[in-house]
Amino acid sequence: MIKIENVSKSYVKGKKSVDTLDLEIKDGEIFGFLGPNGAGKTTTIKMITGILNSDEGHILIDGKDIKKEGISAKKNIGFVPDTPDIFLKLKGIEYLNFMGDIYEVQADIRKRRIEELTKKFGIFDNLNEEMQSYSHGMRQKIVICGALLSNPKNWILDEPMTGLDPKASFDLKEMMRKHAKEGNCVFFSTHVLDVAEKLCDRVGIINKGKLIFVGTFEDMKAKLKDNGSLEDLFLEITQDE
Ligand SMILES: Nc1ncnc2c1ncn2[C@@H]1O[C@H](COP(=O)(O)OP(=O)(O)OP(=O)(O)O)[C@@H](O)[C@H]1O
Ligand SMILES: [Mg+2]
Repeated sequence: MIKIENVSKSYVKGKKSVDTLDLEIKDGEIFGFLGPNGAGKTTTIKMITGILNSDEGHILIDGKDIKKEGISAKKNIGFVPDTPDIFLKLKGIEYLNFMGDIYEVQADIRKRRIEELTKKFGIFDNLNEEMQSYSHGMRQKIVICGALLSNPKNWILDEPMTGLDPKASFDLKEMMRKHAKEGNCVFFSTHVLDVAEKLCDRVGIINKGKLIFVGTFEDMKAKLKDNGSLEDLFLEITQDE
């Protein structure tokens, strides 16, 4: 479970990139985080994962405060950042073993999970190559494999489908569904509205740092007077007052 209580963050004095955000993602739920470019999605995700400290408010991961109990809270998080261009000098297998060491994944389980995950995403045969030789999509896939290696309870994914081919995107969505169905928590940001509609139990829309909608797509559609498209709906909700 992820609990965000009155969280704010400013990079520049007087301009809140995230403004008193209050949100709870329950176990068993896939939650989609939507909003225009620069709305505050990545900033929120960086605070949930403890990469950035909030200025105000609290974030609890399964009841553990990300600031006060960072290590134990982070143990239950699998995080996919918005850019996969990390540790490029490492070979794929070195990166995954590094993630396995950090998250203390036992050797036999680690070997099995690495094989399962990388075969699923079709990068098993590339594990002995340096990640700088990987395409964008392959980098995205290995970062996802690294995040899921320890089978963490809470998945936090920043635009995870970006750059994935249709098969990998389909597989990831299936994995997200399965993970939530098993009673875990999946929080992800996306710009693809129909993915969000098909996948999410609930969505939140953030605009200029403020959460302006939380609920199901049915709730969202009920807000729109005529039968416009999802795109119309999103534009209407996020337009300036
Ligand atoms: N390191 C930083 N320094 C200063 N301002 C920043 C920094 N990172 C983000 N911001 C600002 O904070 C706001 C929110 O940015 P954020 O990256 O959270 O948006 P986002 O919703 O993830 O957008 P996108 O859809 O483009 O990924 C923007 O106004 C952005 O300019
Ligand atoms: Mg972002």
